[in-house]
Amino acid sequence: MGADERPYSPGLKGVLAGETALAMIDGDAGRLQYRGFPIGELVERGTYAQVAELLWTGEWKTDAHLGCASLPTEVIDVLRRLPASTNAMDALRTAVSAWGAVDGTLWPPTVEQARALTAAAPTALAAFARLRDGLEPIPPDPSLGLAAGFLHQLTGQRPDDAAARALDAYFVVGAEHGFNASTFTARVIISTHSDVASAVAGAIGALKGPWHGGAPSAVVDQLHEMGSVDQAEAWIRSTLARGERLMGFGHRVYRAYDPRAAALRSVAEGMAGVAGWLDKAVAVEEIALRLLAEHKPDYAIKTNVEYYAAAVLQGVGLPPNLFPATFALARHAGWTAHCLEQAAANVLIRPDVRYVGPAERHLPG
Ligand code: COA
Repeated sequence: MGADERPYSPGLKGVLAGETALAMIDGDAGRLQYRGFPIGELVERGTYAQVAELLWTGEWKTDAHLGCASLPTEVIDVLRRLPASTNAMDALRTAVSAWGAVDGTLWPPTVEQARALTAAAPTALAAFARLRDGLEPIPPDPSLGLAAGFLHQLTGQRPDDAAARALDAYFVVGAEHGFNASTFTARVIISTHSDVASAVAGAIGALKGPWHGGAPSAVVDQLHEMGSVDQAEAWIRSTLARGERLMGFGHRVYRAYDPRAAALRSVAEGMAGVAGWLDKAVAVEEIALRLLAEHKPDYAIKTNVEYYAAAVLQGVGLPPNLFPATFALARHAGWTAHCLEQAAANVLIRPDVRYVGPAERHLPG
């Protein structure tokens, strides 16, 4: 057979790999909509429960409510057995996998399964966070929304309205974002007629990497490492000169300012307790954008969602080691909505690959 001359795009950059009615992302103009509604409007006037229902069912339900669900004891037992040093993303992935083993979600995925898993995940992460500190898990209070319920199960206290609202806004912003690596992973898994827990466990594995979902805690580390705003320019210059990446900047799709970063920045501006950190972040952002433009004049690298996510997550009192897993909680709505969408018009996702190994040869002797 002759050489395969079909075009190949490393990383599938620019390749259309599906159709979706969930998120519209216009990377050049910096626009994001869920089923047609602009993200800024959804953050200001919607809740995560409404957004999740919108993604799952296509309907805007004014009275939508989604509280945290309790977990089967087997799942809590699995979490108890993990070492206290376990990475929170590994713990969440393990809990979702155990939940799937116990609750046995089957093909085809359903809205009920999507709701159940999205409602169980915050309980699992909060339980892990307490167990590693030698504390007992707190049963969910289903009257609270998912974000407030998560904070309640972490601390044992009902969060104040401002914190609950800020984390809910973060969940709205993180709910869905097209064919990113973790969502694509979920769709590949569900396309084999596997189940929604397997799809979400795989998605969490993909999100764990710092090039995808691991950046907000790295943003906090970087801002800390660079010292004062006066030292930022030198620190950023030497980081870029070493060929390293600035966390919280750059995106595969956005060439303009990430609209999610803009929405979260205004949420952060309304929060007490992060003012000092935020002032520094804003000042450093300006320097970073200038130096990134110098560093890559032909490739727009702008602020991404993770940069201001760090401010909001810190502001509601979450420790940085829970940031990536909290992002994963928010993305459950999108992952599961993609499972439903994939299943509704399923074709097994199985692309071709170009073989570049040795020509036919034979074993010695
Ligand atoms: N800091 C410094 N350089 C960056 C950069 C960043 N944050 N983001 C991209 N670049 C550079 C790359 O080094 C690369 O340079 P090279 O061509 O000299 O190797 C070039 O821009 C293109 O990078 P590539 O990874 O091919 O492009 P991409 O647009 O697909 O990258 C990310 C997207 C998210 C992987 C990338 O921007 C990144 O690693 N950002 C930092 C991590 C982060 O914030 N992740 C959260 C994403 S929401």
